[in-house]
Amino acid sequence: MKLQNLEGFYRWHSKVYEITRSIFLAGRTEAVDLLALQDGDRIIDWGCGTGLNFPLLLRKKVDLVGIDDSASMLGRAREKFPEIELVQGDMSHYPFPEQADKAICTYSLSMVDPWKETIRNICRALKPTGRLVILDFGQLTGPLKLLAPFFSAWLKLHGVNPGMSLSSLLPKYFHGLKIRSLHRGYSFLALAEFPVLQPSPTRPPDRPFRVVSQRFIFPPGGSRPILSFDFTLNR
Ligand SMILES: C[S@@+](CC[C@H](N)C(=O)[O-])C[C@H]1O[C@@H](n2cnc3c(N)ncnc32)[C@H](O)[C@@H]1O
Repeated sequence: MKLQNLEGFYRWHSKVYEITRSIFLAGRTEAVDLLALQDGDRIIDWGCGTGLNFPLLLRKKVDLVGIDDSASMLGRAREKFPEIELVQGDMSHYPFPEQADKAICTYSLSMVDPWKETIRNICRALKPTGRLVILDFGQLTGPLKLLAPFFSAWLKLHGVNPGMSLSSLLPKYFHGLKIRSLHRGYSFLALAEFPVLQPSPTRPPDRPFRVVSQRFIFPPGGSRPILSFDFTLNR
């Protein structure tokens, strides 16, 4: 969904989100279990919405941050979890200053138009030992395959892009990857570990000059030598 349409969509949906979505956005417990959370972990919930994952994540003593671009969705999350740090921002580009141990993304990646940039951004925001779990809509299998066109149309109606090819993209950004289909392809779980990308180290500011030579000068009269430098201007 285009970012400019997101708030318009969720202004109304946020009011009924928890009642309607807790039924068909299944698999949360499995997703959180895959994170293997430890006390003290810093975790980012990408596209956290109203915070449906938070009670499960807070079973451990974690440092939890949620990011979402919709003010209405974050408003609901803030009402329920006033103590949790919430950031309003575009998850495809928001630069988290501090890297996290774990990242979770449930049914939100498929809603982001630049989903490939989002994977890249999540990767950069994880420590080298970090772990990302994605839970999202999949491709129906078996007898349910007959319903695939309707499923796809229904997803598109809700701003979801059902055709993400994560199995080819994730290995570019993570050394370890496991993908598992759930509920006959209705959804899938991906566990990606050991991110490849790290934020580029900040380059020291260029000096306007550089030292080309240095030498000691011994002044007449035997006083202490002076260290002398020759400079040239950087252009
Ligand atoms: C279907 S909801 C899922 C919410 C939550 N993760 C859950 O499992 O209930 C998708 C969420 O992604 C958020 N979202 C979509 N595109 C986004 C973007 N570019 N940046 C940040 N959040 C975005 C929406 O505002 C919405 O809250």
